[in-house]
Amino acid sequence: MEQHPITKAIRARTEQTNEMEHSSPLFLTSSFSFDNAEDMRAAFADETDANIYSRFSNPTVKEFTDRVVILEGAEAGYATSSGMSAVFASFMALLKKGDHLVACNSIFGSTVTILNKFLPNYGIEVTYVSAAKPEEWEAAIRPNTKMIYLETPTNPALDIIDLEFAGKLAKKHNVILNVDNCFATPVNQTPIQYGADLVVHSATKWMDGQGRVLGGVIVGKKELIHNIYLFCRSTGPAMSPFNAWVLSRSLETLDVRMERHSSNAFHIAKALENHSKISFTKYPFLPSHPQYVIAKKQMKNGGALVAFELKGGLASGIKFLDSLEMLTLTANLGDSRSIASHPASTTHAKLTDAERTAVNITPGLIRISVGLEYVDDILNDILQALDKC
Ligand SMILES: Cc1ncc(COP(=O)(O)O)c(C=O)c1O
Repeated sequence: MEQHPITKAIRARTEQTNEMEHSSPLFLTSSFSFDNAEDMRAAFADETDANIYSRFSNPTVKEFTDRVVILEGAEAGYATSSGMSAVFASFMALLKKGDHLVACNSIFGSTVTILNKFLPNYGIEVTYVSAAKPEEWEAAIRPNTKMIYLETPTNPALDIIDLEFAGKLAKKHNVILNVDNCFATPVNQTPIQYGADLVVHSATKWMDGQGRVLGGVIVGKKELIHNIYLFCRSTGPAMSPFNAWVLSRSLETLDVRMERHSSNAFHIAKALENHSKISFTKYPFLPSHPQYVIAKKQMKNGGALVAFELKGGLASGIKFLDSLEMLTLTANLGDSRSIASHPASTTHAKLTDAERTAVNITPGLIRISVGLEYVDDILNDILQALDKC
């Protein structure tokens, strides 16, 4: 009987050793040895798939990658040291001088830095398109466009991009659709189902789920992943086997964790929607979300992030953070412990007002990464902090 991807991902593992261990061992080794010169020659000639060196491949890293490949419904994958090295490798391996990239304007800040500061050095041009105006995306595509890049839900404003629309657009113009699926996780959304050719992740977030290790992974079409593998094997952003071991164990509980993260977040979003200190609350599965219908179409659950706008603006945002008693102020998200952030005074403080407005980062915007604590304890901390704003 065909098993569900969740079952397959939990059961996918490195080959059992003669010790008959039940949990997968950790192959913390830089290199692998050969019985004889001929075996070593054949491995280097790509005539066998024997492991050579952990910058190229490692059984523990392979187990983690295989599990993400299964969950995303992909053909192949390569795991990297962080989400940013996954994003960077997906550009550098597949784009060359003279190519053009169309990117949604609402994407993670370090990705914007790669697009604005580094890709132009290699002669790769970028055009930004608005998350709010998909009808303008097609006009941005040129004869030399090679890739469309987007995130959904977006960071930190939680806008939703229609993946079916993006998949059809990419197919029509024969360009690679590359989706950062970090915020939804493959439990809540599988972009390949809608035509994405590549999916990138920061595994540092919910895939780990406890804020312990950095990691990234790229999955998608075999031939694209092969080029990414060739780029990474020479340039060296490989995932550490130790991090892969931690992340692979965490993937076994991703489905149940995301269900609880999402139900906690939905409960909090509903409770805050009509709060007197808040002008709007944004959560993909609230009917008031501007792209609610699209979110319901492409996501299984609304995810773990809730955003809301404080009527008091910037000053209230800072007061809110200072008044929290339990929620953590930290530069991460996707943890079992709830985290609060105020983008206008921290992560996006260097942008101009106009740049922030263009990506829906208003002065009083607060983003909560809802954790796995008892939901009313999370809500009560938010409510008492709101009282002080
Ligand atoms: C949507 C998104 N993509 C990529 C990254 C980068 O991941 P990492 O910090 O693992 O390099 C982040 C980090 O917050 C993110 O939120």
